[in-house]
Parts: sequence; C-alpha cells; structure tokens
Amino acid sequence: MPLTHLSVQKYRSLRFMELPLRQLNVITGPNGSGKSNLYRALWLVAKICEGSFARSICREGGLPSVLWAGPRLSKKPVRMSLGFRTEDFSFELTCGFPLRGEGASQSSFCCDPEIKEEAVWHGPRRKPTTTLLERAGGITRIRDVEGARVEYPLILDSNESVLSQLREPHRFPELFSLREAVRGWRFYHIFRTDEESPMRSAQVSVRTPVLSHDGGDLAAALQTIIEIGDRHTLNEIIASALPGRTLEILQTETSLLIGMRAEGCDRLLLAHELSDGTLKFLCLVACLLSPRPPALIALNEPEASLHPDLLPPLAQLIVEASKFSQVWVSTHSTLLADAIRKLSGVSPLCLRLLNGETVVDE
Ligand SMILES: Nc1ncnc2c1ncn2[C@@H]1O[C@H](COP(=O)(O)OP(=O)(O)O)[C@@H](O)[C@H]1O
Ligand SMILES: [Mg+2]
Repeated sequence: MPLTHLSVQKYRSLRFMELPLRQLNVITGPNGSGKSNLYRALWLVAKICEGSFARSICREGGLPSVLWAGPRLSKKPVRMSLGFRTEDFSFELTCGFPLRGEGASQSSFCCDPEIKEEAVWHGPRRKPTTTLLERAGGITRIRDVEGARVEYPLILDSNESVLSQLREPHRFPELFSLREAVRGWRFYHIFRTDEESPMRSAQVSVRTPVLSHDGGDLAAALQTIIEIGDRHTLNEIIASALPGRTLEILQTETSLLIGMRAEGCDRLLLAHELSDGTLKFLCLVACLLSPRPPALIALNEPEASLHPDLLPPLAQLIVEASKFSQVWVSTHSTLLADAIRKLSGVSPLCLRLLNGETVVDE
C-alpha cells in the first residue's frame, strides 16, 4: 500500500503542504528550511495510527510549540491537519486546542491535541458514498463490512484517532488493513552512539529482522542479516565503505556484541571502541538491508556524523532498499542527494523558507 500523497497544514513551518510521493523520495534544503518538520509530520501520521499521537505531540513540546506560529489570516483558532493518501484510501485528521469558556467542559488538560475531525475515504475525493469513517462534533460514523453506516458505540479518547482505537477487525477490515499498513512504517532519526548506548554493550541474542528506531539492537539486527538476509551485500558494502575492516559479531551463550577487525590492529575492536560514524553507518546498513523490508523506511539526515566517503555507498544502499520499501530521505547533503540521483535518476525535492513558511523550490 504505497503512500501517494502527504498533506500537512499548520504544523510548525508547514502552513500548507501537499506533497506527491514516489517510491524513492529525497528531500533537501538549507538548514531551517523545514526538512525535519516534514519528516516529523510523516512520523506523526504513523503515531496517529499507533495510538500515541498525544504523547508524541507532548514530546515535541506540546501544541503551543507545534502549531503554525506564522501570520494568521483569520481570528479563528489555529487547527493542524495531517493527511495521507494511498492508491486506495485517503485519511485526514484535524486537531486543535480544546474548547474553553462557557459551555465547554472544565479540565486541566488545556494542551490536549483534541481531535476535531477525522475521516477515511476511498479514492482521492471525499463524498458521502466513498466515506468509510467520519468523526466530527464528538460523533463517529463508520461504514461496516456490510456497507451499513453505524455510529461507533465505544467511548473514544478525544486526543487519539478513531483509527487507532478501533476494535472488531472483522467488522471494519479495510480500516484495519490501512492502520496495520501504517504501523509497519519505520523511522530512523537519531541513532544513539554515546558511551552508554546499548549498541556499545552485549545484547541478548534475539532474532531482529528490523532494527529498532535508535539502533540499540544493532548487533542482533546485523547477525539476523548474516543468518537470514543478504550477507554478501552486507560484506561487500562494509568492504567498500570501510576499507581494511571486516565485521565480526561476537557470540556468547546468550548475547551478541559488535566487533570489527581492522588492518594494522592485532586484536578485534569491540563495540565500545568503535567511532560514532562507524556505528552510525552500521545502523544505516542494518536498517536498509532488513531481511523483512518494511513498507516504508524514513531516514532523517542520515549523513550526520558520516565521513563524505561513506555517502556514495549509503546512496547505493538507499537506492537498493527502494526496490523493496518505499523510502524517504531528508538530507542537507548535496553529495548524498547527487549520488542518489546518479544511481536512480530521482531528483531531490528542494525546500526553502518563504516568510517563515516551508515551500517547495520549483
Ligand atoms: N510552530 C512553528 N511555527 C512556524 N515555524 C516553526 C515552528 N516551529 C519551528 N518552526 C520553524 O521551522 C524551521 C526548522 O525546521 P526544520 O525542519 O528543523 O529545519 P531543517 O530543514 O534544518 O531540518 C525553523 O525555521 C523554525 O523557525
Ligand atoms: Mg533538520
């Protein structure tokens, strides 16, 4: 179920953005142009479907921080919208501050991202006949498997999507398949390579076909590729990107630890001795060579702390991964964007800030 469009309104510097998406998407632009904002908008869509939208907004500093702070054309309260389209379905959710004052319920949670409207429909255009789910004014109507429009009887959290709170998959199979498809997306923004990072110590040996978002289970993910994935490409890419080095995963009865043999070094170098850049590159290799490719992989600024020599092999991995997963890469490295373009023919989408608003450079 590839994503064909992402739409964002009034989220940080994204006042109004409708973005058509392809199998491989490269987003570039100078610092502060909104690359990370756009990446996070996509990440929030996944959080909406997972049922952790409110917590995610909270982690970002809360509604007061994430709502568009640019010029307002009307006195109406600011509302933020996030939406996406696949070939078959469209989804949109609008949220804002809870109503206050007379008639509104009294609550201390004045920063809740209250869902004002939510809808899922077939195809690109929303019409009564194509609508599958409709939430507005505190009422939710859903079309069930027999085509009947029913009022959803369960009490819903007002700061989470209906899609994430739905039960009874047998009654709403299409909505469930949409939700599950989005829940399989993977996001990689910051790999923890600090001294205390779990990837620098031994990890319990558990098969790990998909690297965790912070790379903490890197040793297990690499060992999984060695056992059931594309071991040859793994070795080839390490040989070309890190000349003179080979990967060796140390095994005890119950744990795994990353090690590297390096020319000119008599003993194996262990995870806690490897450089941030080396570990980060290994994380990117592990997520892009996953033996169970996720439907979508999104990387935010993967070039950070990588030597420029590692960018061509990274581009090669990204282009290869896009044959199995839809891929999103936000980057300010023109070297990486150019290398991807040379290998795939995909030109980057360049963002810039215009009066505080992120726009696409035409
Ligand atoms: N609530 C907001 N309203 C409007 N603009 C915002 C808001 N929050 C952050 N910004 C703007 O977003 C920009 C940072 O975007 P970001 O995606 O981090 O840039 P980068 O392209 O470097 O990744 C800054 O210019 C900042 O002023
Ligand atoms: Mg950024």
